Amino acid sequence: MDFVQGEEIQGVASLLLRWFDQHGRKLPWRDTHQPYQIWIAEVILQQTRIEQGIGYYYRFLDRFPNVESLAAATEDEVLKYWEGLGYYSRARNLHAAGKTLHHDMKGIFPENHQELLKLKGIGPYTARAISSFAFGEPVGVLDGNVLRVVSRVLGTEAPINKPQNRTKFQQVVDSWVADYPSRDFNHAMMDLGATLCTPTKPGCMVCPLIGVCQAYQKGLTGRIPVKEKKLK
Ligand code: ADE
Repeated sequence: MDFVQGEEIQGVASLLLRWFDQHGRKLPWRDTHQPYQIWIAEVILQQTRIEQGIGYYYRFLDRFPNVESLAAATEDEVLKYWEGLGYYSRARNLHAAGKTLHHDMKGIFPENHQELLKLKGIGPYTARAISSFAFGEPVGVLDGNVLRVVSRVLGTEAPINKPQNRTKFQQVVDSWVADYPSRDFNHAMMDLGATLCTPTKPGCMVCPLIGVCQAYQKGLTGRIPVKEKKLK
């Protein structure tokens, strides 16, 4: 399966950014460049829908407004603010990483994804989300929605859940975002995936990428993204 981008795929970032100016979603964690706030939002949103997550985001920040207050809390209290969200290891890891940040790193967040990855509970997605949204690091943020957009634009049937393909999708998005403002680019990719480039009935007729999208041009939007069945 090839990831070669033909001549047809040009100017993805500028098409997206123009669309985002008009159609981007206004969300509370997009008003800030503070890594702490962005981190809390991204961890909440990992397994939680936006509508449900917003209330938790505000309540959590109200009680734990910074690294210091998070580090000083007991685990039980942090878990109390997570009640109802599920996946409680997220909250335990958040608390552990908060203590590391406060006690070992003077409360200062690293500004690149490689260093952020060393913190407990911060994986490739969250590390890039923080480094892009807080610090503008020019890296692509790949979640399920974004992988759908990328694989459709490329028109590739390479399974999106195969680790070696992830690396290649990452390289492609990194090449698109280079030289563009990465905050808006990544928010735009997420919004396109959530609102237009949906799993079923995508809104291709109003999509800013219709002219470059290889899945659309080959009539494959219904087949892409491909997911490989997990082998026992
Ligand atoms: N889902 C996860 N992170 C998000 C973000 N920053 N904006 C919108 N949806 C998200």
